[in-house]
Amino acid sequence: MRKLLAGTAMIPVITLDRVEDAVPIARALVAGGLRVLEVTLRTAAARAGIQRIVAEVQGVIVGTGTVCTPEQVQLSCDLGCQFMISPGSTERLLAEAVQAPIPLMPGVASVSEMMRCMEFGYEDFKFFPAEASGGAAKIKAIAGPFADARFCPTGGIGLANALDYLRLPNVLCVGGSWVLPANLVAEQRWADIERLARETVEFCASR
Ligand code: 3PG
Repeated sequence: MRKLLAGTAMIPVITLDRVEDAVPIARALVAGGLRVLEVTLRTAAARAGIQRIVAEVQGVIVGTGTVCTPEQVQLSCDLGCQFMISPGSTERLLAEAVQAPIPLMPGVASVSEMMRCMEFGYEDFKFFPAEASGGAAKIKAIAGPFADARFCPTGGIGLANALDYLRLPNVLCVGGSWVLPANLVAEQRWADIERLARETVEFCASR
């Protein structure tokens, strides 16, 4: 994951309600400077939406989110995704993902969960739900015993607190849905989403 995330400060978390929104959302985010996109497997539109993004959007690095089962690992590979992100980390999921041709960033909220992932060779983690699980202070505290671990905190992050995370040396990037406000998506205001993405990139660059 670390190689894929080089130069990326923020991963938009996209939950698609309509397949036809997939390509304009992805194009707006890429045009605004956010190239690494997580599309959650939570909705019926996710599968076809990801296929369209992979086929039609230039310069994007797209991965699946909310990957919870071995079957979803297989699906992520079949869809042509470049990475996977899970909210948590079960043994079944980790055992399948560690053999997949694309990397998983497993979700953790505790040191024991991290240690279980490390037994499978993982060092890069989604810290979820970040704000509710101790926030930046917790990630800072973990750096002592686990110097090699890196995090992408997600859950409750926005411009008001993103820098608290991004300024920690063990944070690779942050993730969140704040660049896709529901009203802008519903009204198909893609230029506004592009502007929000650009503002986010500029803001995060001050880390
Ligand atoms: C998620 O997987 O839902 C992400 O953590 C998004 O969280 P957010 O909506 O609080 O940014």
